[in-house]
This record gives sequence, structure tokens and C-alpha cells, in this order.
Amino acid sequence: MPEWLNNAVFYEIYPQSFKDTNADGIGDINGITEKLGYIKDLGCNAIWLNPCFKSPFGDAGYDVEDYYTVAPRYGTNEDLVRLFDEAHELGMHVILDLVPGHTAVTHEWFKQSMKAGRNEFTDRYVWTDGIWVHPDGMNCIRGISDRDGSCAVNFFSHQPALNYGFYKPDPDKKWQQSMDDEGPRATLEAMKDIMRFWLGLGCDGFRVDMAGSLVKNDEDGKGTIKLWQEVREFLDSEFPNAAMVSEWGEPDKSLTGGFHMDFLLHFGPSHYNDLFRCEEPYFSSRGKGDASAFVRKYIENYQKTERKGLICIPSGNHDMDRLARSLNPDEIKIAFAFLLSMPGAPFIYYGDEIGMRYVENLTSVEGGYGRTGSRSPMQWDGTTNAGFGSSAPEKLYIPIDKDKDRPTVEKQTADDASIYSEVRRLIGIRQSHKALQSCGEIEFIHAEENSYPLSYLRSSGDEKILVIINPSDKEQKFTCPYPVSTPIYSIGGNADSSNGVITVPPCFAGFYGGL
Ligand code: GLC
Ligand code: CA
Repeated sequence: MPEWLNNAVFYEIYPQSFKDTNADGIGDINGITEKLGYIKDLGCNAIWLNPCFKSPFGDAGYDVEDYYTVAPRYGTNEDLVRLFDEAHELGMHVILDLVPGHTAVTHEWFKQSMKAGRNEFTDRYVWTDGIWVHPDGMNCIRGISDRDGSCAVNFFSHQPALNYGFYKPDPDKKWQQSMDDEGPRATLEAMKDIMRFWLGLGCDGFRVDMAGSLVKNDEDGKGTIKLWQEVREFLDSEFPNAAMVSEWGEPDKSLTGGFHMDFLLHFGPSHYNDLFRCEEPYFSSRGKGDASAFVRKYIENYQKTERKGLICIPSGNHDMDRLARSLNPDEIKIAFAFLLSMPGAPFIYYGDEIGMRYVENLTSVEGGYGRTGSRSPMQWDGTTNAGFGSSAPEKLYIPIDKDKDRPTVEKQTADDASIYSEVRRLIGIRQSHKALQSCGEIEFIHAEENSYPLSYLRSSGDEKILVIINPSDKEQKFTCPYPVSTPIYSIGGNADSSNGVITVPPCFAGFYGGL
């Protein structure tokens, strides 16, 4: 694992919505470069940039038309290289979003593969061998090619699936290729070339989109794991410092595949949503939540993965509701005390550090649908468009939160009691205690069913830190082998211990050292 991941705190940027420097209503690379100081000052030292490549934008850029060129609306390849360089000068790292599973229908590879005559790209995508032959278990594109076949799709029906082969091709379906066939091999080599290109220009790694879905008919992920192991070998030999994080949500599989990190997601088996986004989230002060299923699954994965890599818990992302849709500002602060004291590299979705809200009732933009409300322009200050850019408001990529009390960076940086100030303090504390960082160990002390608080011990070498998190609005007690005294960090008062029982105030989070 690259050294820098041990104390990495990531900031996810949705490029269209961060900062617009040329008043066209869409965020751009130069806007991100301009705001590096802000991100660094918050304490984040790494950035994940959502796709910024040429695209027809039917899925906000997750439908890539050209992996080698920055979308003109965001700037140029040179602008992106300058972003890498300036980030590096500030001691920060930048990872790009790699979408290996599918392309846009406008990608040259797809145009070639739609032709009736055989060519270099005939086997680049998963095609059946007849227009009425359906790729079982998958949706498909049919009727737009001269080629007599249907092409499997991965997500939206305009995202044709790249061909990495089938784990166990059905011998009766000649169109199903094996992972070792020439077509699938060439697809993988093409992806490696794309990685080489950007890593060579100074990018520090990739967040890999739908990483677990590449090989088809691969129920247990065995084929896809094998494929990523090959990528790991390639990176180890050519770019050992490149960081790889997967959108997979099953760390036992992804880390075996050689990823350094995997995200817990709002889908999949992790119970991540129990904490933040469900009818009774654990972090609501109503105190009706349950973190125990999450913890059970976490421990299971933590043991299975044997510290091979990191399990990363994001504050949110461009696909899920904003934290602020289900939690109020005080609850969000306590949620951050958890997010920033867990193992693995934390990921903060832009704007979550100021409690940006989910903007309700928006018309879908670029395939966002329900996700659109979590993708609105960053709110910087009290000027035009909240400082996002000076275009006419109707030109904005997505309308801005219209509430006059909307949070902004300007207001929150000036207020010591804001979410921003709490997040900044928490990152500072994490960065000065190894036990709290990515690779520090964790042992759960209290995570009972339907119960508060949540408590765990983080440790690294001789350093031990007891974390107590009580989002509920009631005082709670639990037995604990460690006493508490003066906290390294606390919000909501202080806990108290006597005779092995700790009494925890309502709406509280505290970190205790000296154990
Ligand atoms: C991932 C992305 C999402 C995208 C989808 C298809 O889940 O995070 O935004 O729509 O993959 O690429
Ligand atoms: Ca712009």
C-alpha cells in the first residue's frame, strides 16, 4: 500500500459543481485548482475527482467517449496536469475516476464494434450473435447497428458493456467469450494503457467505477478478482505508488483483487445506510437506530481482509442523498466524529463539511434523477450564485439551494461552532494521532443491538484511544474496561467513569487517550 494512504483524508469533487471560473455555469478544472488551498486548510490531503473526460453526458460523465481527453467544458489536459502539479506542491494527491465497465455509445470503439464487418473492435463489447438473441441477465442495446447482434449494457441503456469475458462461458452460446480470449484480453490491455497515460501525467491513482462487475456470469466475483490481480501486478511493477480504490462494497473481494481500498456503499451488504440514511438512522438524536448489524459486518470484513487494505466509509457521494437530508447539523457533527475516527481513509463529499443540503424537487440533470439534489453547486459565499460562478442563475448546471439560510463556506469558516469547524478540528486530531489513522487497529467495546453508545478502541503501537459516540439525546451507560479522564477531543460535554461503568452525556462524542 502506498505510504501516503496511512494518513490520507480524501475530498470528493464532482467537477461540474465545485467552482466555475469562466461563467458558463459549469464547474471546471481551473476552479478546483483555485480552491486547493481551501481543501488543504480543511485538512484533506487527497482528492477524488469524478469523471472529467469527453462524454455526451448521459450519465454525468460515467459514459466516457474518450478516456484520453478532458471534456472541453472542464478545460484541457494541460489544466488537469497543472492541477496535479499544484496539488503535489501542497503535499496533496489527486485520483481520477476510471470507468472500465462501459463507455458511451459515441465512443469510437463502440462505433467500430457496431459495424457489420469484422474489425479490431468487434469483440471489445459484450455482443450476442443475433439481433433477437438476448444477453441473459443483462439489458441490451439493439437495433442501432448494422451488426446483427444485441449489445449488453451495464447501467443505463446507453452504456454498452466492455468485454472482459465470461467466468464460465456457456458452450451453447458461442458469443460468450472466456476471459482469456483475444477480445477480452485486448480490452484489459486498453484499460491498462489508459491508466499508464494518466499516471504518467502525474495522477496518483484511480477510483474504479463498478469495479466488481467486469467479468460476466461471475457470481462470486472470482473472475473479476483474478482480473484485478493482474492489474495489481502491472501497477506494482510500473506504478507502485498509485492508489486504487474500488466502488465494490465488498472489501473481502476487492482487497483480494489487489485494491488498496474499498468503499462501503448505500447498496450491498455493509449496512452502511443503517447509520445515516434510513427511517431511523443511528446518528439521529431520536436514538432509535441500530448500529449492530453494521458493526457485525464490519468486523467480519475486517477479519477477512487481514489488514491487506482499507475499508473506507464515505460521508456521502454523488449517488446518495446528502447527509443533511436525514440528519440535522448537530447530528452531522457527531457523524463526522465517527467517520473521522474509524480505520480506513475517510472520504468527504464536497459540501458535506458545511452541511450542504439535498435540493428537493429538481428535474433530473444528465442522468442524475434522484441523485440530482446531491449534486448542486458548492456554496462558497454571499455573492452571485453563492460564489460558485458568475453565470446567469438559469445557466447553472444544477440550480443552487435557494434557501437564504443555506450554509456557505464563508459563514461556516467564521463560526467556531459550525460543522466546518468541527470537521476541521476532527481532521486535525486524526492527523496528530497515529492510532486514529487509516491503519490503526480497531476493537469494538460497545455495539449492542438497538443500543447506544457506540464505543471502540483505536490503537497503533503503544498509543490507545477510546472513542465514545452517543448520537442519542439521552444519557447512556456502558461497561468498559478503560477509564476516561481528560478527552483529546469531545463535543457535547464529558463522559464520566466509576467502577467500570462509563456514563455518557446525550448528543456526545469523545476521544480518550492515556490508557
Ligand atoms: C457508479 C457511479 C454512478 C454511475 C454508475 C454507472 O455507480 O458512481 O454515478 O451512474 O456507476 O457508471
Ligand atoms: Ca466553467
